[in-house]
Amino acid sequence: MKLKQALNDAQRRLAQAGVDTPEFDARALAAHLLDVPLSQLTMQQMRLLTGEEMAAYETLLVRRCRRQPLQYIVGSTEFYGYELICDPRALIPRADTEALVDLSLELIDELELTRLADIGTGTGAIALALALERPNLQVLATDTSGAALELAEDNVALHGLADRVALARGPWLEPLHDTRWAGTVEMIVSNPPYVRERDFPGLMAEIREHEPREALIDTAADGMGAHRTIVEQCRLLPALRAVALEVGEGQATEVAKLMRNALRAREVIIRKDLGSIDRAVAGVLGIGER
Ligand SMILES: C[S@@+](CC[C@H](N)C(=O)[O-])C[C@H]1O[C@@H](n2cnc3c(N)ncnc32)[C@H](O)[C@@H]1O
Repeated sequence: MKLKQALNDAQRRLAQAGVDTPEFDARALAAHLLDVPLSQLTMQQMRLLTGEEMAAYETLLVRRCRRQPLQYIVGSTEFYGYELICDPRALIPRADTEALVDLSLELIDELELTRLADIGTGTGAIALALALERPNLQVLATDTSGAALELAEDNVALHGLADRVALARGPWLEPLHDTRWAGTVEMIVSNPPYVRERDFPGLMAEIREHEPREALIDTAADGMGAHRTIVEQCRLLPALRAVALEVGEGQATEVAKLMRNALRAREVIIRKDLGSIDRAVAGVLGIGER
């Protein structure tokens, strides 16, 4: 069968399975299989697929029709322009989280920060993007999930950053105390779980059935239990200058208030994501005011 025909058949089956970008996904799976850049796939449309290639394409297609995320099937994704290994051990980094990275970089530059911690690092996306963007930065990346930390370690190795990105396991800010980072860390960055349990059934099948549940759900009724815990624990960090947190839709005002009240932040900044939703909240702390 010609590639063109295989792509058309795949697109139809993906649409029937409820995949919301069937044309793109059919092409992305074929590009992955044939190991060609997506941009060059059109030039290969008349190519005849071998029986082996057809069988391998079918395997990929069946997985995607079962609504496994494309990034888990191809094993990689891009975040902030950097490649990351991506598999079910951790949440797939979202483009919306780049707003948190942008805001963090601005604060790192403005306050001349060199030591920060990324709490709940998952693939290591935020920690690595910040370290790659600012070569003088030292980062501690933490998670409770051992599987996520293994994946983050693979990504740290992929980018050759083992000398500047350390990994530690434990809840919220606890690993900072275990590793003696607590006394010197200047900034906390985190994209914590913030989906409310009652909103979980409404998520897309790709997310609900395949991404780690503990990376998504916060058990507090308003989905902000993690934000409250992190902010509260930040009070124990003597060198802290800034905290930047990702928030869900409708959570920014409350998290901003939390930063003003619990941390006595002298400035609170809220940034929107690509869909114009308030997505990142940062508090800048006055020196010696806690
Ligand atoms: C929304 S995901 C964010 C992952 C990654 N930072 C990103 O932006 O793609 C939340 C992460 O927090 C981790 N997590 C959940 N509970 C935690 C806790 N109590 N302490 C530390 N990390 C936690 C999850 O394992 C998951 O990796």
